[in-house]
Amino acid sequence: MSNNKHISIIAAVFMGLLFAGSSCKKGHNNTGVEFAPQMYDAVGYEPYRQIKPNTINDKGLNMRIPARGTVARPNYHITYGEGANKTTDLMIYNIPKDSIGIAERTLTNPIPETDISLEQGKVLYTQYCIHCHGEEGKGNGTVGVVYKGVPSYSADAYKYMNDGHIYHVITHGKGRMWPHGSQITAEERWKIVQYVHKLQQG
Ligand code: HEC
Repeated sequence: MSNNKHISIIAAVFMGLLFAGSSCKKGHNNTGVEFAPQMYDAVGYEPYRQIKPNTINDKGLNMRIPARGTVARPNYHITYGEGANKTTDLMIYNIPKDSIGIAERTLTNPIPETDISLEQGKVLYTQYCIHCHGEEGKGNGTVGVVYKGVPSYSADAYKYMNDGHIYHVITHGKGRMWPHGSQITAEERWKIVQYVHKLQQG
């Protein structure tokens, strides 16, 4: 064995002892030496994990405080399936865009239908959908006739769309229809679903 090899083996053993010696001091609560901490504590500014005060921003924060009057964006993600309850159903939506079948099978409208919820659904539909889908959902809104290809909710292929299907289309869009999940809160989307059901009846 060459001298060099001897030296590297000795160095390796030494390093090993150093680690062993330094990692298990002071009982169970000691986490030991953190190896290569710069791998965990990024040098760049991270909004959600901050080790040192930021010298540039106000109050030493990496994440700036939103400007006054900032409007919160609705939460886009919803959990589904077993164990999901109605409260989380309203909060988080994680059915992927290409899985509309899952939405059809697993979702039912968590908002009880009342005259008020329907009326609110109608107002929201008027704000977000009517220009394409038209007042009666026939696809002939002022934008719809120019945009083209907007279906009628009461046509055979559409009149049986269920809660999950419509909710999913509003959230993620479909074909040439754009997604609305980032503009319309989950609760509002469910109210629109109720109103679209009315329009499906023609
Ligand atoms: C910019 C125009 C536009 C707006 C705004 C719009 N849609 Fe659509 N929508 C379309 C078009 C176009 C289609 C046909 C999509 C396709 O198949 O390519 C469609 C299809 C649909 C469908 C049928 C999806 C399917 O299974 O084929 C539903 C349900 C629907 N829209 C609901 C809504 C609701 C509810 C709103 C309001 C929140 C809305 N849309 C806003 C243009 C629009």
